[in-house]
Amino acid sequence: MDIKAVILAAGKGTRMKSETTPKVLHEIMGKTLLGYVLDNVKNFVSEEFVIVGHHAEEVESFVKNNYKNAKTVLQTPQLGTGHAVSMVCPELENYEGLVLILCGDTPLVREETLKEFVEFHKSQNSDITVMSTIFDNPTNYGRIIRESNNSLKCIVEEKDATPEQKAVKEVNAGIYCLNWGKVKNSFKELKTNNAQGEYYLTDIISWGKAQNLNVNAYILDNSDEIYGINSRINLAEATKMMNRRNLEKYMINGVTIVDPDSTWISEDTEIGQDTIIYPATYIEGKNKIGKNCKIGPCAHLRGGVEVCDNVKVGNFVEVKKAKINSNTNVGHLSYIGDAELGEHVNIGAGTITANYNPLTKEKSKTILKDNVKIGSNSVLVAPITIEEGANVGAGGIITKNIPSWALAITRSPLKVLENWVKKQLNR
Ligand code: UD1
Ligand code: MG
Repeated sequence: MDIKAVILAAGKGTRMKSETTPKVLHEIMGKTLLGYVLDNVKNFVSEEFVIVGHHAEEVESFVKNNYKNAKTVLQTPQLGTGHAVSMVCPELENYEGLVLILCGDTPLVREETLKEFVEFHKSQNSDITVMSTIFDNPTNYGRIIRESNNSLKCIVEEKDATPEQKAVKEVNAGIYCLNWGKVKNSFKELKTNNAQGEYYLTDIISWGKAQNLNVNAYILDNSDEIYGINSRINLAEATKMMNRRNLEKYMINGVTIVDPDSTWISEDTEIGQDTIIYPATYIEGKNKIGKNCKIGPCAHLRGGVEVCDNVKVGNFVEVKKAKINSNTNVGHLSYIGDAELGEHVNIGAGTITANYNPLTKEKSKTILKDNVKIGSNSVLVAPITIEEGANVGAGGIITKNIPSWALAITRSPLKVLENWVKKQLNR
């Protein structure tokens, strides 16, 4: 059966206290919150609709530039989560498949969980399925209210809940699966008679019950996954949760993480067996690291980095958009950006690939072929190619291509003035 996703991302995100960035475009290790949600559904849905409102243009251009199958739908003004979903009704007028509804501020939910959720919906012949979980502290979430026979009754928001309802620990995760053909009419009937004066999506539960539809809850065991981000404190906590999960995955696959407490590695990084990641290393965005590498301590990989086998990226080395071929060493205090390094290359301490021209605002590439050796404290001014086996003497400022097996030095001759200091002192 066809599945389409609707992702709610129009809300203001007031509690983030940001003037420049809409909530769903805040980042966890180089990827936006909305990016996580879109990546989690893109492999098994046929189309994604992102509901946009606040900072609509920024969110629209993010979606357009990164997700070809996704459409944005404008919601103005924002009258609640039920109103937000109703914005896709014209788009899905004759659609009869499944609709998976998610929130753009819940990045930790995994693709496997969402697939299981949809399978559960199908296996129960459900018309409406809501994801729930148990929280020790359910404050701020909608509570799942059940009948005495344990079937679902309704969802009550914190602000509308009675003290008994507030004591309920089963909460609404904000993720739903709907048989669209049977549920689409509910959106015409939602009311705003609640504490917030909004059209609540949660009211489709009691609506479905009244229509004698098959309404179910899928209880998620790992409640961490539905952690929603409403503030910067939540953002930091979610980043920690995401990181812990990623590091565990790498360690299970045979990567040594010397100090998980000070190491940050993004979800979209691949790491080969027997690679060692030393403390205080930060790896964000999409990267691929080979086998038997040594990364860090205090290395920063900024995304678009491919490191082949047996490579060393050492202390205080920053790498961005670069390929480093096998058996190459970038030992200490260097910046390697927009670059391609061959095999058996050695980069001396303090080497910089000067990739950015501030006048033209252009970035250019540095190419170092196999067996190139760069002396310490050199600046390689891109665009530049250093051919196979060439050496650069320490302190070189290299502005031209260097042919194979040549030595390039830009040093002025060393002068030694004997007893110069003594003479000054005796004056
Ligand atoms: C919502 C649920 C609550 C659930 C919680 C889970 C409702 C009424 N409440 O509460 O039961 O426990 O999520 O995290 O649905 N949005 C729009 N347009 C709007 C309003 C909101 O697109 O007009 C978007 C927001 O950008 C956000 C999502 O919908 O991504 C949820 O809205 P939010 O205000 O965060 O709802 P919660 O109070 O968290
Ligand atoms: Mg929320």
